[in-house]
Amino acid sequence: MAITREQVIEALKKVNDPELNKSLVDLGMVKDIEIAGPHVRVTIALTMAGCPLKDKIKSDVKEALSAIPGIGEVRVVLTTMTSAERAKLFGQEPSEMEGMKGVKNVIAVASGKGGVGKSTVAVNLAAALAKKGYKVGILDADMHGPDIPIMLGIKDRPVGSRGMLFPLEKYGIKMMSTGTLAGDGTPIVWRGPLVNKAIKEFLGHVAWGDLDYLIVDLPPGTGDAPLTVATTIPIRGVIIVTTPQKVALSDVRRNVGLFLEHKIPILGIVENMSYLKVPGSDEVMDIFGSGGGEKIAKAFKLPLLAKIPIDPQIRQGGDEGRPVALEEGEASKAFYELADKVIAEVEKKNSQNNNK
Ligand SMILES: Nc1ncnc2c1ncn2[C@@H]1O[C@H](COP(=O)(O)OP(=O)(O)OP(=O)(O)O)[C@@H](O)[C@H]1O
Ligand SMILES: [Mg+2]
Repeated sequence: MAITREQVIEALKKVNDPELNKSLVDLGMVKDIEIAGPHVRVTIALTMAGCPLKDKIKSDVKEALSAIPGIGEVRVVLTTMTSAERAKLFGQEPSEMEGMKGVKNVIAVASGKGGVGKSTVAVNLAAALAKKGYKVGILDADMHGPDIPIMLGIKDRPVGSRGMLFPLEKYGIKMMSTGTLAGDGTPIVWRGPLVNKAIKEFLGHVAWGDLDYLIVDLPPGTGDAPLTVATTIPIRGVIIVTTPQKVALSDVRRNVGLFLEHKIPILGIVENMSYLKVPGSDEVMDIFGSGGGEKIAKAFKLPLLAKIPIDPQIRQGGDEGRPVALEEGEASKAFYELADKVIAEVEKKNSQNNNK
């Protein structure tokens, strides 16, 4: 027996959006109904990308449709509403970068390649700034390896309301991750130009509140992903993380070129895994050679903001979800120095802008 469109709509009328407490049909969230004999595929448009309730909505829809007598296979596809559709629903669409309004300085952390300690530097810089009394947030914009929630020991999912997402908070640091967008294997359309659109929408709709510093962990490399993020958010300055090896030079060159080309200001270079302090002595070992960071900084006429040693406590802090910079000690010293340099460079840039 073939299923009818009316049966499907009747069933969907019984499914409410958990936040708005109205049926998906009344809210205009049912985008498409395809019927092939007993099999049904429905497309539901969520109010926003990364909607924290998407898994619940999806399972509610599945359950309601499965109750139709004689139904075969049920597929639920999730997409997001257009701005116009959202505006119709909420009366007024939050403006594009609504959530950024109270954010004073956005600092992006970038690297020419992966695995150089970009997330480690980002999360410890955020922790050092928070420790100094600043209002700090961190945005994990590395959608292919969202590590920041792990490094802060955050397991909860963010909540959303009326088209805005609220960041989670730990150690006095607000956090949002693009991992929220991908969800638990939900087939939210996650390819090509739609990724850019989803990222842009997502970035503007996080309710950060008032922040002195928002640290952004960019995706690694010099491709589309870091650029989309870096050109969407108004960035005060980029920090480029590298390791001291000679081969790192060409990665940094490409990375610096990318930001300069798009007129995104660079604050300076951080050399990570710079050296190793031999335990119990003052001896220092240059594992990857020395002077790489200085050479790079000189070559690009950029400040060398910090040299971060290799320290097991730094890795441990990341693995355990408690950044080492929350505690004072040998391992966190370099991050406090980095925070001081960043504050100084930002103040320099801000006063230059004011004098213009
Ligand atoms: N200075 C350091 N001392 C000891 N371990 C470090 C240091 N910096 C980073 N690590 C460790 O190296 C690994 C890679 O660091 P991290 O994840 O921060 O790099 P990433 O550049 O963000 O990598 P990805 O490109 O995968 O996102 C992690 O296990 C981290 O704990
Ligand atoms: Mg990372």
